[in-house]
Amino acid sequence: MSEHIVTRNPGEIAKLRRAGEVSARILMEVASYVKPGVTTAEIDAFAAEVFAREKCGNAFHGYGGYPGHLCISVNEVVVHGIGDERVVHDGDIVSLDAGAVVDGWYGDNALTVPVGKVNEQALRLLAVTEEALYRGIEQAKQGNNLVDVCGAIEDFVKPFGFGIVREYVGHGVGRHLHEDPSVPNYRPHHRLPHLRRGMILAIEPMITLGTYRVKVLPDHWTAVTADGSWAAHFEHTVAVGSHSGEILTERPRMALPAQLGITLNS
Ligand code: MF3
Ligand code: CO
Repeated sequence: MSEHIVTRNPGEIAKLRRAGEVSARILMEVASYVKPGVTTAEIDAFAAEVFAREKCGNAFHGYGGYPGHLCISVNEVVVHGIGDERVVHDGDIVSLDAGAVVDGWYGDNALTVPVGKVNEQALRLLAVTEEALYRGIEQAKQGNNLVDVCGAIEDFVKPFGFGIVREYVGHGVGRHLHEDPSVPNYRPHHRLPHLRRGMILAIEPMITLGTYRVKVLPDHWTAVTADGSWAAHFEHTVAVGSHSGEILTERPRMALPAQLGITLNS
């Protein structure tokens, strides 16, 4: 099952970490630019400037014809939102997904930011989705099966009653944006590979306040929830380690649960 999945040696992982650090820096800088009144096109243009300043490649721009510099997905948009005239408002949640290429090595990461005063249900969605990502990362260790990562995410999210998107999944990453294996955020029916040290995974739960079903808009990219409910998306690039996944796109956690007295115990 794992014969197509490459493992990376420490020297290669160091290069992936550089790409990951740049990816994380770009993501955080763009996140701090998001405020009420900006359009998503302005966010995309700002991201283009940040990529240029970092002098790195852009993993998404032109990928399969994707026109944006990063994905900007507001409220009911789950993933792959493209910058346009949509204005970000106070109370919105905005998912940002960015990937940098450094010396041919790829980083991929995402987060959802609350804009201004966001309702408690949406904040809970963000906190649960971020925590689900970390629950998955914890299981990305040698000796485990990939299903341990997928199952940890599913088991954590399920009791909250939120929708776990199935149409889009995480993936291997390294010399390309998308490599084997697929990393679902639920236990799939088929068998999954065993994990070996040095496998590189982009783990990216996409969770909704309603249905798990999505539909793609006529632009062929923008994926929205079928019922219009809001969605969150958190992603890290991770190296399978000996005791846990090693995050290559390190950034501070949002710490929402503590700040807001939200309990993550389901
Ligand atoms: N993190 C997303 C993914 O892995 C972003 C891809 S956007 C694309 O699919 F434009 F590059 F497809
Ligand atoms: Co990804």
